[in-house]
Amino acid sequence: MENITGNPVTYNNYLHTRLFLIDDLRNLVEKCSVIIEAPRRFGKTSVLKEFIRQETRTDAKQSDFNILFLELEGEETVNEFCLKLFKELLNLYRIRKRVEEISRFLGDTWNILASRLKKIGILDIGVELREKTREYSFSTWKEKIDPMISGLNSFNKQTIIVFDEFPDMLMNFKNKASEPADFKLMTDNLTGWLRSLRQKQDGRSKYQFVFCGSINLRKTLEEIGIGKRINDLETLVIPPINSDEAEVLITSLAEGYGMDMDHDSIQYVVSKITDGSPYYGQILMKAIRETRETTFKIEKVKAIYETMLRGGSHDLNHFHSRLEEYLAPGEKECSAIVLKQLCFESTHEKELYDVCR
Ligand SMILES: Nc1ncnc2c1ncn2[C@@H]1O[C@H](COP(=O)(O)OP(=O)(O)OP(=O)(O)O)[C@@H](O)[C@H]1O
Ligand SMILES: [Mg+2]
Repeated sequence: MENITGNPVTYNNYLHTRLFLIDDLRNLVEKCSVIIEAPRRFGKTSVLKEFIRQETRTDAKQSDFNILFLELEGEETVNEFCLKLFKELLNLYRIRKRVEEISRFLGDTWNILASRLKKIGILDIGVELREKTREYSFSTWKEKIDPMISGLNSFNKQTIIVFDEFPDMLMNFKNKASEPADFKLMTDNLTGWLRSLRQKQDGRSKYQFVFCGSINLRKTLEEIGIGKRINDLETLVIPPINSDEAEVLITSLAEGYGMDMDHDSIQYVVSKITDGSPYYGQILMKAIRETRETTFKIEKVKAIYETMLRGGSHDLNHFHSRLEEYLAPGEKECSAIVLKQLCFESTHEKELYDVCR
């Protein structure tokens, strides 16, 4: 098992005790659209990537799904989102040798581009596509994309359309919108449209959507009064790791790198990461490995852990980034005090005000 601390993990690097999550996801998407909920770095994207790997590996029995994976963190406008979705759909129609249908769906003005798509592929028509759709309004996009989604009903396989970091994209919209009302309207229109697409299924569930992202999507939509837009989604929760899993992770990583960690030091690391995410285990093992020593006793491991926590480890920055981005300096200071307090002892909500004073 490799010590991976940034990218999503798949295959042998995916903690085998968690493979049940992939089966859970597969069972859910066969029937309905899904929202994957978990805090930052809990392994949401890894579940998706491992699902895709299992479905597309060359030795797999014929896969049951076409999977479109859209990473949305960087998309700042509805137009960018629609263009990305449109491109993925065009590519799917090409791969499945159904380009002819595209002109029928999109109109004759698309004939030339459709035949170029067939000949040279989606990557090489990217600039033309962007140019042709630059002035599209949201309703034009819907006109173009709706039939392509409905067309998925006639595919022999089910299509799964994954929106990773969907709530991050909504936050980008919020930052770009000149008025809060614009953001609300835009989000309402977009999530309303996506809901109507889910409801257009003709009973055979030939396409499903998966929404994923660490900013709580339900809460974001509830706050602006449109929580009902996603109340048809089934939830896949990624749970924290229990102590058995934590031990499997740490011993596999130690073995893989020839690290001689005694029982107590392993148990110490296990105690620190139990009820957290596998990511904590990965970054702590990385910090231990970086000492370039091979034998580890508990005292040494404790010292490495303390240094990692207090030394401004790069791998812990993710956990601060949202505080930095969304809170004003006073709010951030107050939140830091509250969080510190909560980490060390449980405190009743009513007492927190006094803690901050
Ligand atoms: N099943 C797993 N087995 C081993 N390590 C894992 C597993 N899932 C996640 N990790 C660890 O967590 C890190 C983050 O995983 P991933 O990117 O999938 O999480 P995420 O929830 O999508 O994160 P973000 O909130 O940043 O989008 C990986 O680099 C890896 O270190
Ligand atoms: Mg992710």
